[in-house]
Amino acid sequence: MNPTAQRIKYLTDLLNRYAYEYYTLDAPSVPDAEYDKLFRELEALERNHPELKLPDSPTQRVGSEPLAGFAEVRHEVPMLSLTNAFSPQDENGVFDHAEMYAFDERVRGGLNGEKPEYVIEPKFDGLAISLLYRDGVLIQAATRGDGTTGEDVTQNVKTVSNIPLRLHGENIPELIEIRGEVLMLKADFAALNQRQAENGQKPFANPRNAAAGSLRQLDSRITAQRKLHFFPYSIARQQGGFIAEEHLQELGYCKELGFSLPDGNFGCFPNIDEVLAFYEQMQQKRPTLPYEIDGMVVKVNSLAQQEKLGFISRAPRWAIAHKFPAEEALTIVEAIDVQIGRTGAVTPVARLQPVFVGGVTVTNATLHNQDEVSRKDVRVGDTVVVRRAGDVIPEVVRVIFERRPMQEANITVSDGLQDDLFAETPSETRAEPLHKPYRLPTHCPICRSEIEREEGEAVARCSGGMLCQAQRAQGLIHFASRKAMDIDGLGQKQIEQLVAQDLVRHFADLYRLDIPTLQKMKETADKASASEEEPSNSEIGDFEGETGNTLLAKNNKKQPTKWAENILAGIEASKTPELARFLFALGIRHVGERTAKTLAQAFGTLEHVRRAPEPILACLPDIGTVVAHSIAHFFAQEAQQAMIDELLAVGVAPQSQAVTIPPLRHAEPQRWIARLPDFKISETKALALWELAGQSIEGLQTDKALPADWQAWRSKPQNAALLENMKTFFAQTLSNLQDETISDGINEAVAGKTFVLTGTLPTLKRDQAQALIETAGGKVSGSVSKKTDYVVAGEAAGSKLEKAQTLGVAVLSEEELLTLLR
Ligand code: IVH
Repeated sequence: MNPTAQRIKYLTDLLNRYAYEYYTLDAPSVPDAEYDKLFRELEALERNHPELKLPDSPTQRVGSEPLAGFAEVRHEVPMLSLTNAFSPQDENGVFDHAEMYAFDERVRGGLNGEKPEYVIEPKFDGLAISLLYRDGVLIQAATRGDGTTGEDVTQNVKTVSNIPLRLHGENIPELIEIRGEVLMLKADFAALNQRQAENGQKPFANPRNAAAGSLRQLDSRITAQRKLHFFPYSIARQQGGFIAEEHLQELGYCKELGFSLPDGNFGCFPNIDEVLAFYEQMQQKRPTLPYEIDGMVVKVNSLAQQEKLGFISRAPRWAIAHKFPAEEALTIVEAIDVQIGRTGAVTPVARLQPVFVGGVTVTNATLHNQDEVSRKDVRVGDTVVVRRAGDVIPEVVRVIFERRPMQEANITVSDGLQDDLFAETPSETRAEPLHKPYRLPTHCPICRSEIEREEGEAVARCSGGMLCQAQRAQGLIHFASRKAMDIDGLGQKQIEQLVAQDLVRHFADLYRLDIPTLQKMKETADKASASEEEPSNSEIGDFEGETGNTLLAKNNKKQPTKWAENILAGIEASKTPELARFLFALGIRHVGERTAKTLAQAFGTLEHVRRAPEPILACLPDIGTVVAHSIAHFFAQEAQQAMIDELLAVGVAPQSQAVTIPPLRHAEPQRWIARLPDFKISETKALALWELAGQSIEGLQTDKALPADWQAWRSKPQNAALLENMKTFFAQTLSNLQDETISDGINEAVAGKTFVLTGTLPTLKRDQAQALIETAGGKVSGSVSKKTDYVVAGEAAGSKLEKAQTLGVAVLSEEELLTLLR
C-alpha cells in the first residue's frame, strides 16, 4: 500500500471508531474538533484520490448526489408482520391480560410441554429496515416495502449515525442481514419541527412520519441533516461468525458488531407473568423514553423453539406485538370552561365526551391559554384529537375541521364590491360554524374579579389574589402537598371544603384547626352532597383525601373522629419542615423545588432568606433577574411577611441548614451591581463604577463624581432603599453567612485528596459539591482508580460505586462529605 492509501485506511478506521464511541457508546474519546480535523483531512485525500476511497468511508455519512429513484430490492427472507394483542385497563388501571395468556397457551401448546423462555423488547414506532453486510462492510439497506420487495435506501441509511459502516469486533461474519427499526428520537423530532416552523415549512405529525419522510429522500444529503437512529431486532440470515441459539444471543451479537441496543428496556423471563409485569412497568416508563414505542414485542427466546412453532399466514407463532393503548383519540368538546390556578392563572379547559385514551377515561383536557385556543381554533361542538401520554395532563391536540358543526346562515350582500360577485343573489344562504371562536371570560367565574393579561405574557390571571377562593384553595393545596409541607391526610377535597366554608383562609389557619371545626366541615359538606341529585355515598364519601382513602373510610365507620385525628396529627407533624420545603410551600411565583433548595443552601435560615436583597438573589446559581425579582417582590410585601410571622407564631419552625453555596462568590461587587433592577450595566462597567465609588456602598450612595445615569438611578426612593438594604446585608448578614459556611478555605482532611462523585446527591448539585471540594483544596475526578481517596455516592450510583467497592475505596454519603468539609 502506498502512504496515501495507508493514511486513508488509517483515517477511515479511526473516524469510524470515534463515531462508534460517540454515537453508540455515548463515550467520546476525543474532542469534536479533533474528529472534524481528521474528517476534513480524509475528505481532502479522497477528493484528490477518489480511487482510494474505501467502501466504509465515514465521508458518506454526509450524503451524496440525489438519485433519480430508488431501485427495487427483493428480500431473500420475507419481512413479515406481527399479530397484535391488547390489554385493556379498567377504571382503576388494572390490566386484563387475557389475550397475552392466550398467546402463552398457544406457545406452550405448540411446544408439547417444553417450557418457553420469553424475551420482551420495545416495539419501536419507526420503519423496518434490512441491512446487508458482506465481509463486515455495509453493502445494502432496504425498506420493508410489501414484505417481499422493498426499496434500496443504502445511501440514506449510511447517514444514520449509529449504524456501523463496517462491523466491529473479532467475530465478523462473511455475510449477515440484520433487521431493525429506523426512528427519530423525540428530542431530534422536536428540534426538526422547530426548524421546519422557522423556515415556514409544515411540521411533521409525529417522529414516525418524520423518520419515514427523511429516509425516503432521494437526496441523501437531506437525510444526513435529519438525525435518525437505528435499533436492531433480528438476524434474518448469516454465513460465518457467531451462530446464536437464542434471540437474546442474537441481540448480544448485534451489540458486539457495533449496534446500539435499547439498554434497560428489554428483558428475558422464564414465564408470562414476569413478562406482563415488565410490560406494565414499560407502559409507565413510556413517556420518559427518548423514543416512541407503541407497545412491547414478546418473543420466544430459543431459536429452535421458534422454528418448531413456525408461522401462521404472514406472522410468526413465536412472537406477538403487545400494544400499548393509543395515546391519541377522537372525541367531542361539550363545553369550554376556565380553571383558576394557585397564582391566579386562568386556564381554559375543554369538557369532553368521555373517551378512553392513554389507558384511562378522559373527560377534561387542557387548552393551555387563549393563544393556544385561538391558534388551534377549538370551539364547542368540535371533534378533536385528545392526547394523554403517561401521567401528563390530557390536552387537545387539534380540531378535525371537516366535522365542525355548521349552520345555514343568510348572508345579505350589501357591500358594493361584493355586489358584483354575487350579482344574481343579493342574499345568499351559506354554511357557517354553529359556534363562535372561543374567548376567555373577562371576569373570574369564582370571585368576579377582573381577568387581566400582562403584555407579552401568554397566561391571563384572575386579579382577585387571596380574595379569590379558587386561588386560596390552590395555594393551600400546594402548601400541604407532598413535596412542600407534606401534610399527611389533608387532601385536595378537604382543603376545598375548608376554604369553601371559610374555615381556613390562610396557611396559619391550618395549624389552628381542631376536631370540632373539622367535624363541622364534614357535616356541612355531607348535607350539601345529600341534597345534590346524585346519591351521595354515605357519610364517608366526600372526605377521602389523596392518601389512605380506604383506610380512612374503614376507620371512619368504627371511630367517628379518627379521620379528624389523623388530619390533625398530619398537620402537627408538618411543623418542622426542611427550609427548602417551607420556601417551596409558600408558593412564590417562579420558585420551584430547585430554586427553593438553592435559596436554602445559600442562606441557611429563613431569616436570611426573607431579608436577602434582590441583586444578591440574582447572583445565585440558576437564579436570573426575573426569579430574583419575584422572590424579592414576595418578601417586600408586608402581607406576606405577616403571613410568615403568623406561621412562625403558630409553631411552624423551618429547620436551619448548613450554608453550602459560599456567599462571597455570589456577592462580588461587579456581579450584584450588574444585576440591580432597572439599571443595565455590564460586569466590566459595574466594576469600574465600584472603583470610582471608592469600593464602598457609601460611595455608590453619595459620591457626586459618579456618572449622571447612576446618580439618576440612585435618586429614586426605591433604589436608595435598595442600596441601604445592601449595606445592611453586607454589614450583618454576610458576615454571619461566612461563619456558617462550611469549608471556606483549605481543609486538612480534604486538601490534596481525590474525590469521585456518582449518583444523585440528596441536596447538593454535582457542581456545588465539586466547588465545595475544590475550595477546600481537594480534586474531583471523573473515574475511579486506586488513586481515588473517596467516592461520594448518591441515589442510583452505578458502576463507579461498584468499582470503589471492589478497589476498597472509601465511600461517603453527602452527609459524610459535609462533615468532612466542616
Ligand atoms: S420482530 C416476523 N421486533 O413491527 C416479524 N418487530 O408488526 C419480526 N417492530 O414491521 C418483527 N419493533 O417494523 C420486531 N422489537 C421488534 C420490533 C418490531 C418494531 C415492527 C417491525 C415490523 C412490525 C411488525
